[in-house]
Amino acid sequence: MKTLTFNILLTVILGANLTFGWAADGAGLFKSRCNTCHMIDKNSTGPKLQGAKQKWTDAGEGDFLYKWVQNSTELIGSGKGALAKEISNFSPTAMPAQAVSNEEIDAIFNYIDSYVPPTELKDATSDTTVVVDPVKATNYKGNLTIFNWLFVLTLILIIAIIVLAGTLMTLMKSDYFKNKLKAISTKANMLILIITTGSFMMSNNAYALTFVGAGEGEKDSPWLLVETTDLIAILAIDIILLIVVLYLRHLFYQMLAMVKPKVVEEEVPVISAFKKVNQVLTDAVPIEEEHTILMDHEYDGIQELDNNLPPWWVWGFYATIVFSFIYLINYHVLGVSDLQIKAYDKEMKVAEKEVKMYLSKMAMNVDESNATMMTDASDLSAGASIFAANCVACHLAKGQGEIGPNLTDHTWIYGYDIKDVFKTVKNGTANGMPEHSSKFNPVQIQQVASYVLSLPAAKGLAPQGSIIEK
Ligand code: HEC
Ligand code: HEC
Repeated sequence: MKTLTFNILLTVILGANLTFGWAADGAGLFKSRCNTCHMIDKNSTGPKLQGAKQKWTDAGEGDFLYKWVQNSTELIGSGKGALAKEISNFSPTAMPAQAVSNEEIDAIFNYIDSYVPPTELKDATSDTTVVVDPVKATNYKGNLTIFNWLFVLTLILIIAIIVLAGTLMTLMKSDYFKNKLKAISTKANMLILIITTGSFMMSNNAYALTFVGAGEGEKDSPWLLVETTDLIAILAIDIILLIVVLYLRHLFYQMLAMVKPKVVEEEVPVISAFKKVNQVLTDAVPIEEEHTILMDHEYDGIQELDNNLPPWWVWGFYATIVFSFIYLINYHVLGVSDLQIKAYDKEMKVAEKEVKMYLSKMAMNVDESNATMMTDASDLSAGASIFAANCVACHLAKGQGEIGPNLTDHTWIYGYDIKDVFKTVKNGTANGMPEHSSKFNPVQIQQVASYVLSLPAAKGLAPQGSIIEK
């Protein structure tokens, strides 16, 4: 009993699935069985199919529609359908019988009636051209770069804070400072201020560490997706840390000032701005004071001065150190920027794509005046699949001909040159060969035309036409 119920259930489910499958496949059926001759909203070899079902139903011949599709000649021959007779005048070509069930026909017309034309015609070139994705540098990649740098900055700031705080702590704990503070007990408020801010700073520091700890954990995962909000967060942390560093520095100098006795400022002689700048850049000792840096050796009256290194040079040296640090992290640690070989490869790839784009754009300029025979295996196989999907309905699989003439014999109606065949396929003819320029781009037409001319002789329709191939 149980098995029976189960079987019934299974049948129902499978049955439902099957119907559903059919219902969903209207588009596929239409494209594979009808699209060679019919378009939905335009007449081509056959009339447009939009509204056809409604027309038949309105005429009270809804049932005949199935018969028509399954075998139109039989229906016309039976003389039953008035509509069928009328339609048979549409073109000299008869619609061949289609092996489709009633359900499939329903599915096809469901698809046709629910069809909404695309607003934009597909660009003819879009089919075979290489689509170069617009260099939409994924924001995430850029974000990660910024994030990495901010992270390095965070580390530097934290180190600075630890160093500064350590120094301050030792300074505060030192007996000398305690005594000093006692001596200026009137300024006891100052101490409270310093200590409270110090502890505030310490807790702030701790916050920053946890924050960064979390960030560091994430950093290990290669798919780290840094959102803009994350960037803002780490930037905010950095700013807070920077403020802390500056504040600590300020505290440090204040404490130093408290400890150190005030130096009586010496009178500085007035010097010109140029001399000042020069002094800052070269740190040269004025001639009148050179004796202070004279070294105590002398050879044949030649003496040596022990000048400091010129600051401009020292700064330059420091700058190279900083630069090399940034360079190292950038290229070798984080790998944010590409090394030469990688950068070269990348550029070559972009250029290759551009060349391909250009060539395929050029290829699209093919027409019946300059079409050439294609011999590449890839082109011919592309032609073969176009032929199989679009031409066999009338010319049959080997091109031996049925509704359309035999394409493999040596006799032609419109010519056997690749340019002639290109033109026939592209523009169609008055006697039933449909045009294909609206379906395919020039390259595709060239491919299928080349394929047709490469077909081996096949027994089929008797030769038609008066142009004999040499
Ligand atoms: C080989 C070409 C060809 C194929 C494939 C083909 N048809 Fe047709 N169809 C025609 C032609 C031609 C006519 C017009 C009849 C005539 O001129 O004799 C037609 C007419 C029709 C009509 C009548 C149109 C009207 O206005 O009422 C319907 C419906 C129809 N086809 C449905 C289909 C369906 C559905 C399929 C796919 C399962 C299909 N056809 C496949 C060539 C084709
Ligand atoms: C709806 C049926 C139909 C389809 C689909 C069709 N053809 Fe034709 N084709 C014909 C008919 C009919 C002729 C004869 C035209 C004439 O006599 O004017 C023909 C003629 C030709 C000719 C000229 C033959 C000669 O002797 O000069 C070529 C080439 C050709 N077709 C290629 C193709 C190719 C390639 C495709 C597919 C892309 C295709 N056809 C699809 C019906 C069709």
